[in-house]
Amino acid sequence: MIYAKITGWGKALPPASISNDEMSTIVDTTDEWITTRTGIRARRVSHVSTAELATIASKQALACADVSGEDIDLVLLATCTPSTMVANTASLVQKNIGATGAAACDTNAACSGFLYALQNATAQIQSGMIKKAVVVAAERMTWYINWAKRDSAVLFGDGAGAVVLEASSEPSGLLGTKTGCDTEDRDILHIANYGTDLNKYEAVGPSDLLFEGREIFKRAVTGMSLACDDVMDKAKLNLDDIDALIPHQANLRIIQAIQKKLDIEDEKVIVNIDKYGNTSAATIAIALCEAVEQGMIKPHANIMSAAFGAGLTWAASYIKWGERITPLATSDYTFTPCEQSGLELVQDAVTACKNNS
Ligand code: UT7
Repeated sequence: MIYAKITGWGKALPPASISNDEMSTIVDTTDEWITTRTGIRARRVSHVSTAELATIASKQALACADVSGEDIDLVLLATCTPSTMVANTASLVQKNIGATGAAACDTNAACSGFLYALQNATAQIQSGMIKKAVVVAAERMTWYINWAKRDSAVLFGDGAGAVVLEASSEPSGLLGTKTGCDTEDRDILHIANYGTDLNKYEAVGPSDLLFEGREIFKRAVTGMSLACDDVMDKAKLNLDDIDALIPHQANLRIIQAIQKKLDIEDEKVIVNIDKYGNTSAATIAIALCEAVEQGMIKPHANIMSAAFGAGLTWAASYIKWGERITPLATSDYTFTPCEQSGLELVQDAVTACKNNS
């Protein structure tokens, strides 16, 4: 049996951020509301493109695995905020990391995208089609935000996370997975004013993230818990076997509700929504990388992860970590210097949204 072992991990978190107090100078909100309703205290704003975020995270993951870009067979980029649609953004990441022999493809399953892409790349390795892959999730969610609307403006941030997968005989990597899509509800979370359904000769307002928060909340908790149960059942895992839970970071209250349903102790739940907000497909990839860096993932750890997103897509994954929890090498490729604050970076967009509202 061939497995797709995770041998490298990396992340890219842009330096500029917006705190809740700063957010309250843009929309009618308070630090108290955002913190108690969502758990978010700050979010990053990128001064570089989605492709560049993905490149930085991927280069770190490759260095961590001590694998050269030339040896990669597949670059899968999970994103719903691509730098370009045609050519796909993965092709630029492929070029930037020197993976010239690799296939390159974008995957859009919104916030579930990283787990969808991980499943796809793992299956290709397990089937023997390919040997090495980079799976990267990168999002520039702040690009979509309508800064005149407080319900969505406070929730999202930018960032990227990546892993390198390599064919291995050791039972590790993605050992259990279930993905699905609750399409009846696709309207309860969508981006308006975007896509080829629009008449391109008619002016439209700024893109706008529309959602029914309470409805998504309920469905997210139920859907992710059921998906986790299903994956654990098939993998014959008990709750005691789980060493870490890495849920999609959309709302701290959703994370706590899933934790309660699964009955998992606090110290096993990986949470970083306070620092980065909801970075869509990137939340799980960033959290996984950070958890390893912070020593929260031990050798051979059993990790459960679950996500939901627009579609409504959902996914649950059981990942078995390998022996190594330290990088083989590091990459010094990083962000270009950013001279502006988070507030300064979004200022023009804020003015445009307010003029349009
Ligand atoms: O992934 C895509 C989007 N993610 C989600 O939708 C995640 C799932 N949903 C959630 O996380 C939560 O539903 C939200 C955080 C989005 C909203 O929390 P909630 O507890 O469901 O609040 P709500 O939408 O029911 O709104 C409660 C009140 C409303 O005021 P009234 O009508 O009770 O007077 C809102 O207008 O909170 C008000 N409100 C705000 N107040 C201050 C909504 N946004 C804000 C805000 N600051 N930013």
